[in-house]
Order: sequence, then C-alpha cells, then structure tokens
Amino acid sequence: MWVFKLLSSVIVLVICCQLTFKVSAADEFSYIGAVAEYHPVLTGDNGTEIANENAKNFITMMAKAAEHNADIIVFPENGLTVGFTYSKENRTMYPSFSTFLPDDNAHVPCKNSETVVIEALQSLSCAAQNYSMYVVINLMEMKKCNASETESHGCPSDGLFFYNTNVVLDRNGTIISRYRKFNLFAEPGVDVTSTADVASFTTDFDVTFGHFICFDILFKEPALTLVKDYNITDIVYPTHWFSEMPYLTTLQVQASWSYANDVNFLASSFNNPSSGSGGSGIYAGKDGHLITYWPEYSSNALLVATVPKLINGERNVSLVSSTSALYYAFNDSEISTLVGLEVIPQRLFAQENLTLFTTSELDFVNGTTEISKEVCNREFCCSFHVNSNFANESVTETSKYYKYRIAVFNGIRLYPGIGTGGIQVCSIISCTDATLESCGTRFAVTDDVVAATVFHSIVISGNFSTDADMAQMPSSLTTDILPLNPSDFSYSAVDYENSTDRSIVYNLTSSTSNLLTFAIFGRNFSGDWKEEIVIEEPTESPTTGASAGVHVPYSSIAVAITFLVAMWQ
Ligand SMILES: *[C@@H]1O[C@H](CO)[C@@H](O)[C@H](O)[C@H]1NC(C)=O
Ligand SMILES: *[C@@H]1O[C@H](CO)[C@@H](O)[C@H](O)[C@H]1NC(C)=O
Ligand SMILES: *[C@@H]1O[C@H](CO)[C@@H](O)[C@H](O)[C@H]1NC(C)=O
Ligand SMILES: *[C@@H]1O[C@H](CO)[C@@H](O)[C@H](O)[C@H]1NC(C)=O
Ligand SMILES: *[C@@H]1O[C@H](CO)[C@@H](O)[C@H](O)[C@H]1NC(C)=O
Ligand SMILES: *[C@@H]1O[C@H](CO)[C@@H](O)[C@H](O)[C@H]1NC(C)=O
Ligand SMILES: *[C@@H]1O[C@H](CO)[C@@H](O)[C@H](O)[C@H]1NC(C)=O
Ligand SMILES: *[C@@H]1O[C@H](CO)[C@@H](O)[C@H](O)[C@H]1NC(C)=O
Ligand SMILES: *[C@@H]1O[C@H](CO)[C@@H](O)[C@H](O)[C@H]1NC(C)=O
Ligand SMILES: *[C@@H]1O[C@H](CO)[C@@H](O)[C@H](O)[C@H]1NC(C)=O
Ligand SMILES: *[C@@H]1O[C@H](CO)[C@@H](O)[C@H](O)[C@H]1NC(C)=O
Ligand SMILES: *[C@@H]1O[C@H](CO)[C@@H](O)[C@H](O)[C@H]1NC(C)=O
Repeated sequence: MWVFKLLSSVIVLVICCQLTFKVSAADEFSYIGAVAEYHPVLTGDNGTEIANENAKNFITMMAKAAEHNADIIVFPENGLTVGFTYSKENRTMYPSFSTFLPDDNAHVPCKNSETVVIEALQSLSCAAQNYSMYVVINLMEMKKCNASETESHGCPSDGLFFYNTNVVLDRNGTIISRYRKFNLFAEPGVDVTSTADVASFTTDFDVTFGHFICFDILFKEPALTLVKDYNITDIVYPTHWFSEMPYLTTLQVQASWSYANDVNFLASSFNNPSSGSGGSGIYAGKDGHLITYWPEYSSNALLVATVPKLINGERNVSLVSSTSALYYAFNDSEISTLVGLEVIPQRLFAQENLTLFTTSELDFVNGTTEISKEVCNREFCCSFHVNSNFANESVTETSKYYKYRIAVFNGIRLYPGIGTGGIQVCSIISCTDATLESCGTRFAVTDDVVAATVFHSIVISGNFSTDADMAQMPSSLTTDILPLNPSDFSYSAVDYENSTDRSIVYNLTSSTSNLLTFAIFGRNFSGDWKEEIVIEEPTESPTTGASAGVHVPYSSIAVAITFLVAMWQ
C-alpha cells in the first residue's frame, strides 16, 4: 500500500506571485486540490459587512492557492455568512445574514447587475474567474416560499426558507451546483428539504465531485447515496465540527469515511479551538492521507495537495510525492481574524456517554502482555487480540499515562439535544485513570504524559450486517488527535456467501505508543433521528476475568430510560 509520510514534515512555503495559472487537464492522472482551515470574522456592524470581510479573506487564500495552481478550493461551513444568533422562534436577524440564489445553474454573479446574490458572493465569483479556479462556498441561503410549497413543514410565517447551503462556482465564476444540508446539528430556525439533495458537478479536469456538509457524514442520505448509487469518487466537504472522543474527532471521522468508501476527500474546517472546532485534510481513500492538519491552537491555513484521480477504481500514485503537498499558515497581516484572540489550546471536546457500553479493562503488567478476549453487548460480539508492552520503569507515582479498555456497543446513542444515531462498535479506547468516566477524555496538552504502553499489534474482529442500513469503517486516533495512516493498519471486510453478515478484521500493523482509539465503528441508520427512544441496559454484565478492575456498576434490574429528543422544527 502506498501512502505519504507527510505529517512530520509539514512544509511552510513562501513563494512569489506567478501570474499565469496552470490548469489540470482532463487526461492527466491528478488534479490540485486546496482546502482552507479558517477562523472567520464573527462580528461586525451587520451581516453584509461580516460576509464581505470573510470574502476578502477567502480571496487572499485563493490568491495563495493559485500560486500553487489549485484547480479547486474548498471553504468551511459557516465561513462566509456567520455571526447571527440561531433562534427557532425569531428569525428576524436571518435575512441580513443570508443570500438569495438564482434558480438556474448557469448564472454568473460577477459584475452582474441583475444578480440576486449578496456582494460577498459576487466578489467570490469574480475571484473564481480571476484565478480560474473552482470554488466551494458554504453560506446561509434564503428562498421565498408561500403556503403552496410542499416542503416538510410548510412555508414558515416569515415567507422564507433558510438553508445551510453549499454553492459551487466554476472557473468562469458561474454557479454550477448547490447542496442544502440535510442532517442539521443544533441549528434552530434553519430549514431542511423534504428529501436529501444529491448534488454533484463535473469539472473540466474530468472529475465529478459530490458534496455534503459536516454532520451529514454520519448519515446515509445523501453521503452514502452519492458513493453507492452515483459512483462519486471525489467529495468536497465544508465542516464546522465539534470533536467528540473517543470516536468522533474531526480528522478521525474524515479519514475513516474516505478510507471506508475509498474516495478522495477534501475537507475544509471552521477553525475555533476554544469550542473544539477545527481540523482539515485531503485524503486519498485507501491510498492514504495526502495532508492533514490538526489545529491545537487557532489558525488560518491553506492545505494543498496533488490528488490522484480514481480512474477505473485505481489511482496512479506514482506522480504524487510528499513534496507536492503543503501547508501554508497565514500571518496576521495577511489575514487578521486571529489578532487579539487569546491563545488557548483545543478544549471542550465532547465525550460520548459510555455508561451502557460493555467494557473490560486492559490491565497491562510489566513487560509484554498478550490478551485474547471476546466481549459482547446486546448479542453483538467482538474478538480482541492484543500484543503490547508496558514499561513499568517509565512510570512513577506521579506520572500521567493512558490506560486502556475494550469497549463494545450495539444500540442507539443520543446526541444530546440534537438527535439519535444507531451504532455498533468494537473498540479499544483510552482512559486517563481506572474509571469508566475517564474514558474518552484526554490529558491537557501541557501535561507531561508518559507513553507507557506500546501496542505491537492489535487484531479486532467481528461479524457485521451487510444490510443497506448498516455501514462500517476503521476508526483510529492518536494523542496528536490524528488518525493513523493506512500504512499503519490493515482492514478487511468480507461478505459471507451463506449469510447476510460480513466479517470485518481490523489490524494494527505497526508498533504504536501514542494510541487513543482503535475501533471498528459501525453505523445502524435505522436508529437515526428517533423522536422518542428507549435505551435499555444490555443484558450482558461487564466482562470479567484476568483484567477485572474498577467498573461502573450495572444495575441488575433492567431500567428503561426514555429520552425526548429535540428535533429540528
Ligand atoms: C452594514 O455595515 C456597513 C459598515 O458599517 C455599512 O457601510 C452598511 O451601510 C451597513 N449595511 C446595512 C444594510 O445596514
Ligand atoms: C427578534 O429579534 C430581533 C433582532 O434580534 C429583535 O430586535 C426583536 O425584538 C425580536 N423579536 C421578538 C418578538 O422577540
Ligand atoms: C486577480 O489576480 C491578480 C493576480 O493574478 C491579482 O493581482 C489581482 O488582485 C486579482 N484581482 C482580483 C479582483 O481578485
Ligand atoms: C407560490 O410559490 C410557487 C413556487 O415557488 C410559485 O410558483 C407561485 O407562483 C407562488 N404563489 C404565490 C401566490 O406567490
Ligand atoms: C468559461 O467560459 C468560456 C467562454 O465563455 C467557455 O468557452 C468555457 O467553456 C467556460 N468554462 C467553463 C468551465 O464553463
Ligand atoms: C455505477 O457503476 C456501476 C458499476 O460499474 C454501474 O453499473 C452503474 O450504472 C453506475 N451508475 C451510475 C449512476 O453511473
Ligand atoms: C502514471 O502516471 C505517470 C505520469 O503521468 C505515467 O507516466 C504513467 O504511465 C502512469 N501509469 C499508469 C499505470 O497509468
Ligand atoms: C506576512 O506574510 C507576508 C507574505 O509572506 C510577508 O510579506 C509579511 O512580511 C509577513 N508579515 C509579518 C508581520 O510577518
Ligand atoms: C449517561 O447515560 C446514562 C444511561 O443512559 C445516564 O443515566 C446518565 O445520566 C448519562 N450521563 C450523562 C453525563 O449524560
Ligand atoms: C520491568 O521489566 C523490565 C524489563 O523487562 C525490568 O528491567 C524491570 O526491572 C521491571 N520492573 C519491575 C518493576 O518489575
Ligand atoms: C490480521 O492479523 C491476523 C493475525 O495476525 C491475520 O491472521 C489476518 O490475516 C490479518 N488481517 C488482515 C486484514 O491483515
Ligand atoms: C457460513 O460460512 C462460514 C465460513 O465459510 C462458516 O464458518 C459458517 O459456519 C457458515 N454458516 C452457515 C449458517 O452455514
């Protein structure tokens, strides 16, 4: 397997302007993709001013991307029209933070006196022409409606639908595609379409891109539909993600999805470490990460990579070398949105509630340990084989080091205040002490953490369903909050001929001393968006055995907990 060894040698380039831009041709084996990691202007006199300021910064980033001949650039969710307060009841602020879009897909907003779009989008259309670049922008769209509309909940009383929308401009500044977010994440007052848009666009370099937004990545519609039903090989993905441990930090999810679907994936993130947001990357599916960037601190940056096209299911990777990927950090005089910001590391990761998981401590003794174990939760079982080394001598009374647990779950989880999701997980996760509550938290970035456990190999296996409402992916995380590169693991999913199951085996193949999560992460879409759910305790008791330790006690009486889930309007 081929990959880029890039993370340790991120290159900051300062290159002079170049006035002609090379464009990738249809018959080439690759194109040049760029994604922005961007901390937006969030305040200003009004929505117009904020959007204009953000557009100006986008254009600064496009100019830099053009120096590297980018064919396409992606900007983050909420990167342009931002700064309003979400409210389901009172949307009077929304119109001044939104734009109308033309109905047709052949409209050029640049210098067009007839255009209905906001000034900011007009400038971006001109910049797309000027730099001859495809541009993916996320913004708040408004659309007039009336009572005859048949959208999911009718036309709101203010006569407008507001959508969280991606807009794509081609090299001529023409609006060629749009997509309206279908799986909202706590965005009160924002509307959704009655069925998911399946949005794609074909470029002059002969790649057809699909697009969706942020939380959409965890759902079937439209993300998996694009890949499974429309054979889409490349995805552009604006996001404003809030990292959650142990399975859903930003880059971990992007890398997993790109690998599981073997698509090229261009992810651009809203940067705000103080609320747990940030993390952009360009991934080439099973062929590895082209460039990833985890912003522990606030930043404005551009990632550029040569992306090998998928032609008949194959990438020609020979022409992509590590030096073709780059990371460029903008300083305060180029982009000023970080001026005056307090320098604080990422924090406030959400933590998945693991109470109803079946867990088992991995209790390593000094030296090499081999553990083989099967752990089940609601009749779903996973096997674990772990070969590891624990270095007692590196640990003192006061040392901080990660402990590990096997954690298995089969059921419905809650995204508090947002919705539900069905999941099936076989995993090894990290904990900061012996309690279950500490699992899925991390030590402070400033803590001196001893890498006491080295995993030489891990084999996790389980039988999962081939049902179209199920999907699985390999998921990993290191203490750098980066996913493992495919060169460090193997993953196989083989359908049984005689049943509706598939066998999945996920192996850690290189020694790793900084692991936080290693998981087969499965989704069960039939558990999604339940308005009222009953989550029952599993019948299995926590696995006991050699490694029995401190566990959160399970009650022997099955208790049912009813959640009323706040749904979108
Ligand atoms: C928005 O603010 C800008 C800058 O202060 C000002 O020039 C403009 O007139 C304002 N627009 C509206 C619609 O209030
Ligand atoms: C709705 O919000 C606007 C602007 O935020 C405010 O001026 C107005 O008073 C609010 N209306 C109600 C009914 O709360
Ligand atoms: C157009 O691109 C050139 C560089 O090729 C740059 O100097 C100029 O400022 C750009 N103009 C606009 C309107 O973006
Ligand atoms: C209502 O909306 C539909 C669809 O946008 C439009 O065709 C129709 O003319 C509108 N009716 C009125 C009364 O505005
Ligand atoms: C851009 O416009 C030119 C001239 O109108 C046209 O020849 C070309 O096909 C357009 N390119 C794209 C990508 O639409
Ligand atoms: C997707 O690919 C499959 C297999 O090659 C083919 O049968 C199908 O027609 C394609 N679908 C589309 C929408 O291109
Ligand atoms: C891969 O790309 C190189 C450089 O463009 C080309 O010379 C080579 O023939 C390609 N290989 C395959 C298998 O297409
Ligand atoms: C910021 O970067 C630009 C472009 O590289 C450079 O010309 C300028 O000197 C830098 N400014 C500061 C304050 O570092
Ligand atoms: C976690 O889930 C358990 C069981 O569903 C529930 O009792 C507990 O309140 C939850 N804890 C938190 C912090 O939400
Ligand atoms: C742990 O193992 C190492 C190497 O096998 C050995 O040198 C050391 O004495 C052991 N420490 C303890 C506390 O047993
Ligand atoms: C995973 O490791 C096991 C044990 O070493 C081996 O039998 C299996 O073939 C490996 N699977 C993959 C997909 O590499
Ligand atoms: C299906 O095939 C697998 C592997 O070939 C075998 O282990 C299993 O027993 C078979 N199951 C049934 C129900 O025949």
